[in-house]
Amino acid sequence: MANLQVTLAGLHLDNPVMLASGILDSTPGILRRMSKMKVGALITKSISIKPRPGYPGPTAVETTPGTWINAMGLPNPGLNEFVDEFSLTNGSVTIIPNLVADTPDEFAKLADAVAVAGAKIAEINLSCPHPKASYKGRLAAQDPRAAAEVVEAASTKLPIIAKLTPNVTDIGEIAVACARAGASAISAINTLAAIDIDPELERPILGNGYGGLSGAGIRPIGLRKVLDIVQALTAANLDTPVIGMGGICDADDVVRYILCGAHLVQVGTTLAGNPEQLSNITEGLADWMDRKGYQNLEDFRGRVLEWF
Ligand code: DHB
Repeated sequence: MANLQVTLAGLHLDNPVMLASGILDSTPGILRRMSKMKVGALITKSISIKPRPGYPGPTAVETTPGTWINAMGLPNPGLNEFVDEFSLTNGSVTIIPNLVADTPDEFAKLADAVAVAGAKIAEINLSCPHPKASYKGRLAAQDPRAAAEVVEAASTKLPIIAKLTPNVTDIGEIAVACARAGASAISAINTLAAIDIDPELERPILGNGYGGLSGAGIRPIGLRKVLDIVQALTAANLDTPVIGMGGICDADDVVRYILCGAHLVQVGTTLAGNPEQLSNITEGLADWMDRKGYQNLEDFRGRVLEWF
């Protein structure tokens, strides 16, 4: 029987399949429902210090079957409400808060508050695709020094997963900077910077204009970026685990990411109309391993690296 167990920053997880931030994770009720699935951990929608109402609609549109563009505007109740409403300690599945802020100090404040509330690890969103005024109009994850400063500040409070953007030339360089700054894991990819246009209305399809692309169509890009990260970390003699995501729809897609060197994966967009798919994916991974005669995830992790 396949053993799916993994450890992440000392935490023991039943399996490597996590719920990605931003989908089926914005209220305690929906997280409770998702915790009934076969899932290693659940990541919350990004939390900011102040409440954010989000952008006007449309906020999410399917561009081609299975592939979506969205700009929600990071809607969330803010740190105080979050800590009051969400229990981070007594669920059956590890809940990992995802944090978003504009400065290293703000990230540290959020990290401190969720650690006090019982979080064992947090993911930091360095890479929401909508342009921000801070970091000179770029995202923290588009500059190795800015990304490292955030990781350094936040990881003094609890172990940190640094979530990276694919919208860079060299994602490996950013991952190495984050790992050297103390990140306990690297997750990638966040959504691809995108826009779509309504030809009838002669305007962008989303209320915000710009958005991020996710879902089935981005999987080959996610795989390439994860491979780039794994190669860069290996070359720098770093063994920081990588959490792969982008377009995972079934167990074969999980296998693809692990073959590229991912230790864990996150699943998001495909669950929008089909939450149960999360359990199917985890069961399918165990079936694939049994069929192949693999006992542990290490038995096939990174296999594809031999090709390069
Ligand atoms: C949003 C945030 C993200 O990190 C992302 O990749 C896409 C959308 C948002 O809330 O708008």
